[in-house]
Amino acid sequence: MDKKIALLRDKINQANLGGGQARIDSQHKKGKLTARERIHFLMDDGSFEEIGMMVTHRSTDFGMEREKYPGDGVVTGYGTINGRLTYVFSQDFTVFGGSLSETHAEKICKLMDMAMKNGAPLIGLNDSGGARIQEGVVSLGGYADIFYKNVQASGVIPQLSAIMGPCAGGAVYSPAITDFILMVENTSYMFVTGPNVVKTVTHEEVTSEELGGASTHATKSGVTHFACANEIEAINHVKKLLSYMPQNCEEIADHLPYETADENRPQLNTLMPENASQPYDIREVIENVADTESFLEVHAAYAENIVVGFARLAGRSIGIVANQPAYLAGVLDSNSSAKAARFVRFCDCFNIPLLVFEDVPGFLPGTDQEWNGIITNGAKLLYAFSEATVPRITVITRKAYGGAYDVMNSKHIGADMNYAWPTAEIAVMGAKGAAEIIFKREITAAENPEEKWLEKEKLYSDIFANPYRAAERGFIDEVIEPAQTRTKLIKAFKMLENKVVNNPRKKHGNIPL
Ligand code: HXC
Repeated sequence: MDKKIALLRDKINQANLGGGQARIDSQHKKGKLTARERIHFLMDDGSFEEIGMMVTHRSTDFGMEREKYPGDGVVTGYGTINGRLTYVFSQDFTVFGGSLSETHAEKICKLMDMAMKNGAPLIGLNDSGGARIQEGVVSLGGYADIFYKNVQASGVIPQLSAIMGPCAGGAVYSPAITDFILMVENTSYMFVTGPNVVKTVTHEEVTSEELGGASTHATKSGVTHFACANEIEAINHVKKLLSYMPQNCEEIADHLPYETADENRPQLNTLMPENASQPYDIREVIENVADTESFLEVHAAYAENIVVGFARLAGRSIGIVANQPAYLAGVLDSNSSAKAARFVRFCDCFNIPLLVFEDVPGFLPGTDQEWNGIITNGAKLLYAFSEATVPRITVITRKAYGGAYDVMNSKHIGADMNYAWPTAEIAVMGAKGAAEIIFKREITAAENPEEKWLEKEKLYSDIFANPYRAAERGFIDEVIEPAQTRTKLIKAFKMLENKVVNNPRKKHGNIPL
């Protein structure tokens, strides 16, 4: 028995060393943690249980049968994060560069099946040189198996991907299918084809970092939702993100304790600038309405004209979508529409109620927008809100113009409650433009056209640049003082807690992609 236990311990020690101490040292020299260290920081102390520690590859080409490492480049298992069951796989760069073999893929797929069956989130810590080159098509098959399961799991359990090293070629598509991506500055990158191929094909000279580093994807492409300064920050972000989510689509997120005091927020009554064309930061509104320090912005550096993120209201997890007047006047364009649509759909998948703050002058005009498909992209947001069955509330703080009024979670497309501040302006278009069109003849015939225009602008503005026309119709349920916003929202979301909507039966809708 002693011998057998010693053999077992030997094998475990060997597995814990991955590709060996020299490669562990080299990983550390690059400023990266090992696969096991990452798991240690991610999971609650002592909670991690490994599955498949002894798995090795089956490859025999190129002398591979002589080079086997228990675990085969990925550590898989389960444990808890803040007490909640979570499954995790962590690719081990010290074993064949974390490359994906047939058995490496099988381990991940097995874990995904377990996560789905048991209804718990799946976290992927990615650090891989891609397909195991020695295995050829078997490895590609392994990737496809993972992609397929990512899609099966989408909307069933939350799937989060932290990119902590290379993630290139088709391998990028697994994280891309998952719900959220986090990247680490300077040590991770994602691209379909690397700098060498780019140089050959397009003659562009670009570094890995410029092409697919964390900052690039956080600001230019929007591929990553978070760019983190280091691995520990990324791991802490994963934990925080999870706290807003339920375990699976059948559950709701945990309610957390909150401070009951000071529900009225008088500072909101003085936040709005005198002049309606002056900007203000919508985050100030969010932070004054949500529970203290509960707001976690997602996609903060991409399409900044819309702000999306999670927060808590009276301890309940909510998803916030808010036009940002401090950036491009809060206009809706292709990127901001697509960004918000994806966030809305995530919240709806996982029963997270939606709160919208609206201050939008309309959709962004121009050839760039039209040729880049603002029609299709705007339709995404319209579609996403329309199909969402979670409790949905809108607060119009200032402008709600044109099609954007309809799109931004109006009652017409299924919002449950719409509030407006007294500063709200709800109309087909701004008063100046409106007057020019409908009073064109009078203005051109006038002795002083400029004066006439101003007079007509004022007339249109008096009629429509307020929330009361919409409130008379019931399109706005209540015009409220800004200071009351938090109290009103807490009550309304509580009232909507048991909302049930049965959409017509169908296979699935066809969102304009
Ligand atoms: C097998 C690999 C590997 C791979 C790296 N290694 N990538 N082994 N298959 N894909 C091994 C190396 O041989 C080396 O082994 C160790 O991992 C570390 O690699 P280094 O090159 O020394 O590390 P580094 O300098 O940090 O460079 C990392 C790297 C580079 C940029 C990832 O290794 C690289 O370019 N690898 C190939 C990437 C690639 O072309 N993958 C296929 C992409 S196509 P030793 O024994 O020295 O430690 C793809 C398709 C997926 O993935 C399709 C899905 C549909």
